[in-house]
Amino acid sequence: MRPCLLILWISLVLTQVLAVSLSVNNSCNHTVLLFTQTSFGDIRNNIRLRAGDTQDMAITPDWVGAINVGTRCRKCSGKCMTGGPSWNGETPFSRAEFNWIPDSGKVFYDVSLIYGYNVGMEIRANTSTCHPFACTLPPGCPVPGPGGSCFSGCCSSPEACADGALPSSGGGCPQNAFAGPHSSFFFTNCPNAYAFPTNDGASGGQPANNVVSECDSTDVILTLCPETTSNIP
Ligand SMILES: *[C@@H]1O[C@H](CO)[C@@H](O)[C@H](O)[C@H]1NC(C)=O
Ligand SMILES: *[C@@H]1O[C@H](CO)[C@@H](O)[C@H](O)[C@H]1NC(C)=O
Ligand SMILES: *[C@@H]1O[C@H](CO)[C@@H](O)[C@H](O)[C@H]1NC(C)=O
Repeated sequence: MRPCLLILWISLVLTQVLAVSLSVNNSCNHTVLLFTQTSFGDIRNNIRLRAGDTQDMAITPDWVGAINVGTRCRKCSGKCMTGGPSWNGETPFSRAEFNWIPDSGKVFYDVSLIYGYNVGMEIRANTSTCHPFACTLPPGCPVPGPGGSCFSGCCSSPEACADGALPSSGGGCPQNAFAGPHSSFFFTNCPNAYAFPTNDGASGGQPANNVVSECDSTDVILTLCPETTSNIP
């Protein structure tokens, strides 16, 4: 390749690769901790985000993972009133999941309430063709947790979540896959959020809801406490 063509080719590749962003907007009244889990790529972790602040998570274009939200977290111990330190649902937390497909201009995202709920979430992208998924639970949580949170629908009581919402020994969600004792509260009130692992219809899970957005944009905003709920069939 001649040098100028090579430079053109590199700049095209870079342009495509760099156009990926994930920001988190904390519209809650309180500071949150953003604890991130990664399968591929890089993202910032253990971000303290004050009420009203927005943070660019500095992801790499291939990032695949999740953001878990902790509330009332102590700086020294890392313990939170909801979410953390084990991040298995022993205390409830809401979770946003993302899968950027490198070089495709595409991202898949979802809101997961499998480990419970502590703050409302909305995920939207900068394109009208992508479904904005939002969930704000109404009052009436069947198994209330601390600080206004709600234990996973897999748990019949707080004690049943003591080893997490999906313990390796198996818990209240059959085969750690299908709807549990209180999953209906979640999938009825937030039809665009995962209430249990096969809520997308995998392995015949019922109801099979619209819980994964396939999106032709790579610029995504996660808003915490949006005060809205989507119902996109
Ligand atoms: C954060 O979200 C709120 C509520 O949706 C919105 O009014 C505000 O403009 C957003 N802030 C940023 C920086 O995007
Ligand atoms: C924020 O605080 C106001 C006033 O105290 C309250 O009405 C509102 O429900 C709170 N919002 C959230 C998301 O906690
Ligand atoms: C999407 O992003 C582009 C480029 O950054 C910007 O020009 C446009 O205003 C954005 N559109 C929306 C709906 O936010």
